[in-house]
Amino acid sequence: MKDDPPAAAGWRFDELGHAGAEHLDAAYIAAYERKAGYDPAPDVARFRALGLDRAATLVDLGCGTGVFALAIAPFCRRVVAVDVSPSMIAALRSRAEHQGVTNLEPVRAGFLTYAHRGQPADFVFSRHALHHLPDFWKAIALARIARILRPGGVFQLRDLFYSFSLFEADRALEGWLGRASERPDVGWTRTELETHIREEHSTFTWLLEAMLERAGFVIRAREYSESQTYAAYTCTRAPLR
Ligand SMILES: C[S@@+](CC[C@H](N)C(=O)[O-])C[C@H]1O[C@@H](n2cnc3c(N)ncnc32)[C@H](O)[C@@H]1O
Repeated sequence: MKDDPPAAAGWRFDELGHAGAEHLDAAYIAAYERKAGYDPAPDVARFRALGLDRAATLVDLGCGTGVFALAIAPFCRRVVAVDVSPSMIAALRSRAEHQGVTNLEPVRAGFLTYAHRGQPADFVFSRHALHHLPDFWKAIALARIARILRPGGVFQLRDLFYSFSLFEADRALEGWLGRASERPDVGWTRTELETHIREEHSTFTWLLEAMLERAGFVIRAREYSESQTYAAYTCTRAPLR
């Protein structure tokens, strides 16, 4: 985008350096989907209910191996699947080629560097990726996402965000950790979740919601998980100020 500072500016956030070492590792990526256990069908149905059709452009930010992007592609005109990890993008590219999917464009870029080309997006999706950015950079990323979308376009965001009270963090986090997977091949273990809490950037829902609104979104729907450690938002882009 024309008002971005030069990419080489020393104060820019190193997205690749904070993407999670495992997301750059081809061996981990091969086993990632089984571990994540993500079924994209409810998200595909949600987008279709929100008006996504064969004329739509959708951008998936932090797409990983592209489970969602591949599932939504038959219902769209154009899907742009963006991830900062070269290994994730390589896995997605080879799978899209293998499946003969021609309307999906894998792009290696981050939240803070992706430059959208072509018609503004009708829909943006991001699942379990924004927590890689500290809050200052989350806000910058959200403002960039608003500029990718056409006015009235829909942003669907889901991630590890904390909806528990500021004074109940210990209780809520210990409750969540107590239900962690025993097996690393089929879920996230206590040790992995502890690393997430300590080293990644999940934030409170009340902070995130203020950032969404400042970035130019209207929050139309929100869901908080029972564990109070995940949240999902359906937002629309407000008219430009
Ligand atoms: C936990 S995976 C989620 C993948 C996918 N969205 C899903 O729901 O299965 C997080 C993804 O975010 C990507 N990622 C991390 N930091 C990023 C950034 N700054 N910009 C774009 N993608 C990023 C990682 O490479 C990884 O593929």
